[in-house]
Parts: sequence; structure tokens; C-alpha cells
Amino acid sequence: TKPAFFQVAIDGPASAGKSTIAKILANQLHYVYVDTGAMYRAITVAAKKAGLSYDDEAGITALLPGITIDFKPGTPVQKVFLNGEEVTEEIRSTEITNNVSLVSSYAAVRADLVNKQREMTESNPVIMDGRDIGTTVLPNAQVKIFLIASVAERAERRYKENKAKGMDVDLETLKKEIEERDYKDSHRAISPLVKAKDAIEVDTTGISIDGVVSKIKTIIEEHQA
Ligand code: DC
Repeated sequence: TKPAFFQVAIDGPASAGKSTIAKILANQLHYVYVDTGAMYRAITVAAKKAGLSYDDEAGITALLPGITIDFKPGTPVQKVFLNGEEVTEEIRSTEITNNVSLVSSYAAVRADLVNKQREMTESNPVIMDGRDIGTTVLPNAQVKIFLIASVAERAERRYKENKAKGMDVDLETLKKEIEERDYKDSHRAISPLVKAKDAIEVDTTGISIDGVVSKIKTIIEEHQA
């Protein structure tokens, strides 16, 4: 059964370029862009704001019914709101980045966000990026992309992003953080990062953003026909 509104699922490891590519495609195609990583990050911020320890699964689970997450248009990134308060920058902080894998491993957190994510597809076509979109959230998506790139290139990209924000983190540390997050995301019990059987793998190592965008756009157009 094909979804009523067109769905493009983009999965892959941290810093493979998912959000950059998904955002551009969504703009060009007039689809809604859903950044599911931002949602897991927002829950992690909610835990921090509540003064909870990140390993307090029961405490974080209890927060879920009271949490609303909203996206609003913005440049260069869309704005993210947690219970009405903007958290666009905070969700990208090093502390949140290094604890989001743990928080996103909790069953109740995943169940809650998967529901929210599916609701977002009910009235418009979407491009959704994450780790389990093609396998779990939108198993009937018309297009599934699995985006990868070498660790060296992903660390390099993160390094440039950080530098542009005035953050000074060395390349080796970033490599280690990316490898650690890949490992945790791929080995958790529920919905680990894994390529869906019917996903098309696109390796972005050494390819420009435009190059990747046009490649995926061609794939989408083939599936729309
Ligand atoms: O894409 P990102 O780096 O912003 O994602 C942050 C974390 O959220 C990532 O380390 C794993 C988790 N995540 C997830 O478990 N499932 C998703 N669909 C998206 C992100």
C-alpha cells in the first residue's frame, strides 16, 4: 500500500549530509522537511532542562506526554521549538550531541517520536531524514535513500561546520565522536541504523552537494512516474 502523499526517506550515519541534502530537495520539490534527529535532540534538551540525568530512562519517559516539538521555517536551518521555546542552537551543542544516542535508545522515546513523525506525513508529501525512517517509521515510502560517506570526510565536514560557528574542536576528536555515535546508533536494540532492503545506497564521499542533490532528484523523479 503506497502512502497517499509522497514520502522520501533518507537514512544514514551522522554527518553523511542527510539534512543538507534533504533540506535542499524539500525546497525544490515543495515537500515538508522533517529532521527526526532534531526531535531526538529536543528530547535530550528536555531532559537537561528538567535537571534529569541522561541515564534516567524512567524520568525521561515520564516527561514525554508533556513535550511538544515544532518546526518553523528559518535560514540557514529551520527553527526548532521545545514546548514553545526555541532550542535551534542548543540541540546542536556538544553536550546534547554526545548524549542524544543514549536518550534515543529508550523504547518510550522512540515510540513517542515515531508517532509524531508519522502524523507529519498525513497531509503533505515529506522528505524525512534519520536512522530508521526507511526501516521503521515509513516502511512504505516511495523512495528510500541510504546516504553514506567515509569517516574522514564526515569528520572534515563537521570540523568546517564547527569552525564556522567559532567552535574549536580538533579533527581527531571529531573522528572519534563520529565513530562512537555510529557504533551506538548501529548497535542499539530498537530500530538500529541499518540500510532498508529496498533502500538505494548513495555514497557522497568526494561528491559535491549539488551532485548528490541531482542524483537523488533523478531517483525521486523515476519513482514519481
Ligand atoms: O541526525 P542527527 O545527528 O541530528 O541525530 C541525532 C541522534 O538522534 C543520532 O545520534 C541518533 C538519533 N536518531 C535516531 O535514533 N533515529 C532517528 N531517526 C534520527 C536520529
